[in-house]
Amino acid sequence: MIIRPRRLRRSKAIRSMICETRLSQSMLVYPMFVKEGHGIEEEIAPMPGQKRFSVDRLLYAVERVLSAGVSSILLFGLPEKKDFLGSEAYASDGIIPKALRELKRRFPELLCVTDVCLCEYTDHGHCGCPSGGDGYVDNDTSLPLLAKAALSHARAGADVVAPSDMMDGRVAAIRAALDEDGYVDTAIMSYSVKYASAFYGPFREAADSAPAFGDRRTYQMDPRNRREALREIELDAEEGADMVMVKPGLPYLDILSAARDISPVPVGAYSVSGEYSMIKAASERGWIDERRVVCETAFSLVRAGADILMTYHAPELAEWLSKGEIEF
Ligand code: PBG
Repeated sequence: MIIRPRRLRRSKAIRSMICETRLSQSMLVYPMFVKEGHGIEEEIAPMPGQKRFSVDRLLYAVERVLSAGVSSILLFGLPEKKDFLGSEAYASDGIIPKALRELKRRFPELLCVTDVCLCEYTDHGHCGCPSGGDGYVDNDTSLPLLAKAALSHARAGADVVAPSDMMDGRVAAIRAALDEDGYVDTAIMSYSVKYASAFYGPFREAADSAPAFGDRRTYQMDPRNRREALREIELDAEEGADMVMVKPGLPYLDILSAARDISPVPVGAYSVSGEYSMIKAASERGWIDERRVVCETAFSLVRAGADILMTYHAPELAEWLSKGEIEF
């Protein structure tokens, strides 16, 4: 007798019945870019289909995102002016607080996650503040600035703040600042495992946040390391992170799987800009089937252990899910 696993692959119905990995709209988080101004809707060249919006236009875009079936967004802000200390990152009338106030008024049910970092706001483009002449990003002087940024988001209505700077101790610093101000219910989703990755290239063009000198390797993680990733997760959980994240996604499935095994809190995966751009570029040339690759990628991330999926494909995925257009 031959054991025949193929029996369970005979039809779409049976494959769907026994599939081990489920994807639902509620896991999806859609990253969006908001900038100062009015009536602005700018294409991001290396990320076809993604745009930078002024607040008024963002509201229309979010309406479409919600009706596609996505109920969470991850917001990135682009200020009008940048300076050495990234002061627009923590201004009470900064771009993120402005956007949040409008979003929360218009869509109270929308889950708003905000990226907390200085790199979009500093003239040097680093995620913290360099001190001394050598440009080395100083950890401990950056912490209060990041905490202030998170607090300015919480005050404007953020449900979740997501620090992506990779300074040591920032989760504890942010938690303390939030609690002290009474924002005990604002959650922290930490970019705990964030590699110094070339896959962020298109994002840096989108957010105009490429470092003016040096690179991010003295604070983001070395792609060759795995044990260190688990240590970062442990530390962030101890410091009070409510959720953690692994980033990028597809090249780090092993890390995601290991993270899911040890993390006491939900684990997110961020399918980053470079991953999106590669899929877009190849599908525009007709070299791959975009929908099937997007679905396969999303399921791979969930299979590896993601509880939450940050992806620029979120609205399409949500639509395909609701129309039953996910083909396996
Ligand atoms: C900010 C930040 C970055 C991304 C998310 N938050 C850029 C970076 O660290 O250079 C990348 C997201 C993407 O590539 O889609 N620090």
